[in-house]
Amino acid sequence: CVDISRLPKETGYFTYDHGFTATASCKSAITYIDGDEGVLLYRGYPIDQLAEKSNFLEVSQLLMDGELPTQAEFSKFEHEVTHHTMMHEAQKTFLHGFRHDAHPMAMLCSMVGSLSAFYHDNLDLEDPEQRRMAAIRLMAKVPTMAAACYRHSIGWPVRYPRNNLEYVDRFLHMMFEVPAEPLELKPVAAKALDLLFILHADHEQNASTSTVRLVGSTGANPYACVAAGIAALWGPAHGGANEAVLRMLEEIGSPDKVSTAVDRAKDKNSGFRLMGFGHRVYKNFDPRAKIIREMCHKVLEELGVDDPLLEVAMRLEEAALKDDYFVQRKLYPNVDFYSGIIYKALGIPKEMFTVMFAIARTAGWVSHWLEQQVDPEAKIGRPRQIYTGATPRDYLAVDQRG
Ligand code: ACO
Repeated sequence: CVDISRLPKETGYFTYDHGFTATASCKSAITYIDGDEGVLLYRGYPIDQLAEKSNFLEVSQLLMDGELPTQAEFSKFEHEVTHHTMMHEAQKTFLHGFRHDAHPMAMLCSMVGSLSAFYHDNLDLEDPEQRRMAAIRLMAKVPTMAAACYRHSIGWPVRYPRNNLEYVDRFLHMMFEVPAEPLELKPVAAKALDLLFILHADHEQNASTSTVRLVGSTGANPYACVAAGIAALWGPAHGGANEAVLRMLEEIGSPDKVSTAVDRAKDKNSGFRLMGFGHRVYKNFDPRAKIIREMCHKVLEELGVDDPLLEVAMRLEEAALKDDYFVQRKLYPNVDFYSGIIYKALGIPKEMFTVMFAIARTAGWVSHWLEQQVDPEAKIGRPRQIYTGATPRDYLAVDQRG
């Protein structure tokens, strides 16, 4: 590993690494991935242990602070996050300016960006307390805004957060509660959502986290950085894959159409890929996918949901894992392959799937932003390019152009 930035400037060296497949852009102590072995650690703790024993809020604190909290530390963190869940009333007016059919990711991205307008003037990035407060505000307000975007899209009034509830239950109430009808949540629903949040909380320098860091490297405020991360997450090659998986499974429709879909995905001219398959880093099974697969079966069973799409998903997984094209390219189901089926079983519409991902990944984004702010080696991110355009030429007046 060569640190190019330390080579003497006169060498004029820079690397061409299209898509950053082999370039480390920073040092980080947050998340470790071994893509060949299928290992994922948050601050050194294996993801399967955290999934089994921890909860999303504790994992978020671990990512932000570096250590598992004591009971007193956790209570303080939980209190802080709970205390900041309210949205400014003026943000509701802003939200109501969107057409009802705007994509919830478009609304969420703007809503989070708009926090800059509410908190930017007072924000001193040199002050660790203020940086932490910004991170807490984001952790607290993103679920409130996400639920508000959903309710706006279906024409329901926005629900205020019920701060006597825990993080995930509070979110589900903001999403689904209607007046005069107590929302009865099955424990498996909150457990499944909490698990999905844990598994999506961080994944080192993925496209959206790198975006947060790139924007952060300019000294922009954290709300703008996270809004940029949300925009990057939206694409179907990244967080948008969970929505795309469900659309694909619906399009395939029945198990007998699976082999046609697999053949289509192998045909480079079809423009069709198996969504939820493949990963830039995991060239072995995505460890998160294994955990989600199990939870998916549990949720459907306990909620009594008989979803034919699960059968399609299982056939698709089976067919792809036996197919040379997928085996040779090490294309395994990734984290998003099963998450959509769980969200669907919980009554969350597919337009909201990537929003759910954004709620969870906020923990990772703010942790990386906090880490970057105290990195003594951090400098503005400024990639170079290989210029492929015209050589110097003279300007021609419009009447001389052919
Ligand atoms: N279906 C069919 N073929 C695929 C797929 C797929 N899902 N993914 C990769 N391939 C093929 C490519 O065509 C390429 O074939 P070739 O070597 O013959 O040209 C080879 O596998 C390598 O693919 P790349 O696109 O070069 O791999 P890269 O690491 O750049 O992309 C990515 C990774 C974007 C995840 C890709 O596998 C993909 O598009 N998957 C589907 C979308 C998806 O599920 N995204 C979610 C990722 S996880 C997350 O962000 C949370």
